Amino acid sequence: MKKSTYLYIASLVTAGMMASCTSEVKESVPVTLNVSEKGAPVSPSMYGVFFEEINHAGDGGLYAELVQNRSFEEKEMPEGYFVEHGRLKPAPVPNHENGKVNHDASYKWNNEPVRAWSLQPADESIASMRLTKEQPMFESAPNNLEVSIHQADKPVQLINEGYWGMNIEKGKLYTLRVIIRKDAGYEGKVTAKILSKSGKVIGEANIRTGKSDEWYDDLKVFEPTESDNEARLALEFDAPGKVWLDYVSLFPPTFNARYNGMREDVAQYLADLKPAFFRWPGGCVVEGISLPNRFDWKKTLGDPASRPGEYSTWGYRCSYGMGYYEVLQYCEDIGAKMMFVCNVGLGCQYRMGDACSEEEIATYLDDCMDAIEYAIGDVNTEWGALRAKHGHVLPFPLQYVEIGNENWGAEYDRRFDIFYKAIKEKYPQLTLIYNDMTGLSNENRAIEKTDMIDPHWYVAPDFFYRNTTLFDTKQRGKWEVYVGEYACNQGVGGGNMNAALSEAAFISGMERNGDLVTMTSYAPLFENVNNREWPTNLIWIDTDQVMGRTSYHVQKMYAENRPTYNIYSSATILMPDSMVTAQDSIPQKFLASGYDEKTGEIIIKFVNASDKAQTIDFTLEGVANVLPEGRAITLQADDLGDENSMDNPNKIVPVEKPFKKFGQTFSYNFPKYSFTILRVKAEK
Ligand code: AHR
Repeated sequence: MKKSTYLYIASLVTAGMMASCTSEVKESVPVTLNVSEKGAPVSPSMYGVFFEEINHAGDGGLYAELVQNRSFEEKEMPEGYFVEHGRLKPAPVPNHENGKVNHDASYKWNNEPVRAWSLQPADESIASMRLTKEQPMFESAPNNLEVSIHQADKPVQLINEGYWGMNIEKGKLYTLRVIIRKDAGYEGKVTAKILSKSGKVIGEANIRTGKSDEWYDDLKVFEPTESDNEARLALEFDAPGKVWLDYVSLFPPTFNARYNGMREDVAQYLADLKPAFFRWPGGCVVEGISLPNRFDWKKTLGDPASRPGEYSTWGYRCSYGMGYYEVLQYCEDIGAKMMFVCNVGLGCQYRMGDACSEEEIATYLDDCMDAIEYAIGDVNTEWGALRAKHGHVLPFPLQYVEIGNENWGAEYDRRFDIFYKAIKEKYPQLTLIYNDMTGLSNENRAIEKTDMIDPHWYVAPDFFYRNTTLFDTKQRGKWEVYVGEYACNQGVGGGNMNAALSEAAFISGMERNGDLVTMTSYAPLFENVNNREWPTNLIWIDTDQVMGRTSYHVQKMYAENRPTYNIYSSATILMPDSMVTAQDSIPQKFLASGYDEKTGEIIIKFVNASDKAQTIDFTLEGVANVLPEGRAITLQADDLGDENSMDNPNKIVPVEKPFKKFGQTFSYNFPKYSFTILRVKAEK
């Protein structure tokens, strides 16, 4: 392979030709691609997804549950935490690196008496409610709601607003589960009603209440009479007395018809990315604001009604409804490998930064080992047996374990070695990942060994445009790189075309360095549009809509057009020589090329972030025969600031067209503000 291949910066050839019918100057650039000069392979694991409970990504997002605060656990706080001036304050624990306590830390807290639930009429002399832990149905999720009906001249309704409304669709079956207890004084009926936005009853089911003072677990399946995307669920009481509710859940049909599963449209939209892996549960929730707030996978197992949930670190309670089992099942359903992220006994170092004691490290390690055993252990093991009991005898597709999330420092490094050794000894087939918080700038880590390292980048567009060659010179051989979180999220609105094109450019550099970078995942993955906690997120969700930002389409285009290996290209960044050395010059045009062995196609990717179209005169070498007809897939906007929105979700989407002028030499005109993929059938 010619040495210059991957850092070659082409000269811009100004042909100075006048276009026939316009006065534009046509500038074309010659580029040679050579299929017989193989570059780095592109790993099948390259494009995956990162999931975290942030922005209501799970509850009110991917998870299909329609009832918010269904288990009434929302007011629970991590151990030692308290509310001050309406904000959640963590217990004052010292940061393990500097010994200081972050007394200023405080987090969003919902101050409604019972989140998402209200009584109608809202008149305490008619009906009132309070949370109680008396006689819990499940010790693990002890809260229940006591509803006292003082007068019932007219029925009293307890209403759940859902996650900014509920999407109810005529023609679909809904499953309602209510765990209820009544006192001897309540002699009325309990009726569940689906109310449309205007208050019309569009679905109804009678709830059985069982014997007085005993919990009754009732399940009803019903079909609504009308559709409404802002519906609510009401439980109606028509007599005086007291009723307690432990759990109220309403499910639409789920993806792959899984019990306690994912929302169909969202799960399908994600599956359309064909993710090679699914990282879970985070993200900062892995560590928690401090350790008592960390994500606890064991509490996500079993009967959903028994799961306590946890404050999500991002300002609301995560129900734990979408638990470890459900995620593993989803991975299997969509053909993705699971990546589990464990806690090494360190709280989030950007927040409180506490560390568990030396003796407790073993507990965290055991917790991680149990998670692995639950996913892939034999049914004769303790946790493998539990998986089988939960319904899955065969192992799930767990392949990766990330040891810690965004941890750093000497203590992390020491703990990493302990975890790495123990996990590798028992499960040599797993790929283990180290957190790299230096953006690959530290090549000499103080750890004994790792399989992969995980740097993160949340940046402005210029960073990605300037850093497509970042990986070219990084050392090989010690580890592979998993870029576990990256996104252009600064100064790009909700996530515009400029963001997407800069990511496309950066990915071209990662793909070209496929011998080093073998896995990537954009982050964060989802937002419910009513609760954006993070500036830009890949997929937007509303009650009845799911929308991909332009960045989603870039991800999808890359995943669908992954070559087997790179091929020689005489240019990867197009820039006039005069600009190459200029400090402030930002490249705008990027080219990546590879060969797909399965289909026998050359795949050319071109990012044009400039305001002018760019013609390239291609010469294809190392091929015996090139078919004239192939495909061109283009994502293009009129302006770099353009973005998709819920009102205009298809403003910028990829358009695929046949192109009939491919040949051993051919020209292609790449439009301004575009990302284009050409697929050229070429026999070697
Ligand atoms: O993706 C959002 C957050 O960014 C993640 O929780 C964390 O790992 C990173 O800081």
